[in-house]
Amino acid sequence: LTAEEYAYVSGAWNKVKHSEVDILYAVFKAYPDIQAKFPKFAGKNLDEIKGTSDFALHATRIVTFISEVVTLSQNTANNDAIYNKLELFGTDHHNRGVTKDQLTEFRTALTTYLSKHAPWGDNVAAAWNKAFDNVFEVAFTKF
Ligand code: HEM
Repeated sequence: LTAEEYAYVSGAWNKVKHSEVDILYAVFKAYPDIQAKFPKFAGKNLDEIKGTSDFALHATRIVTFISEVVTLSQNTANNDAIYNKLELFGTDHHNRGVTKDQLTEFRTALTTYLSKHAPWGDNVAAAWNKAFDNVFEVAFTKF
């Protein structure tokens, strides 16, 4: 990402990154097939699990992962570290039976969430989409 793109992406992300539970809730609500892949959450009522510590823990793991990738992407010197992290993410999730379609669903749900809760517009959307394209280019090599 360019410095300008990084500023758009991190600016938007910083607005929502403390809404971990809300984000995971929005993802599961839009795409129940994603919830169904989690042994701990499969078949359960989303509104009931939302308040549990398991839910908060997993929401925090996801958000922390994204925050780490965003922070690393500020400096091209970190590209190898990002690459390795995303490759591992791809391998782990592929091994769990997660599909490309589900990762794309996650992207759609998260992007919708940001467009509603963060400063948004054509420039932010373009930078955000470029960042996600980059992420998936690496993660999908494992699928
Ligand atoms: C772990 C499913 C997307 C980040 C897991 C686990 C499952 C899972 C079943 C293991 C949970 C446990 O052991 O308690 C899925 C599905 C996805 C998805 C079905 C479909 C979109 C993502 C995305 C991110 C992410 C997009 C990050 C942005 C993590 C992290 C962990 C994890 C950080 C814990 C570390 C690990 O064990 O790999 N995921 N995941 N997941 N997921 Fe996902």
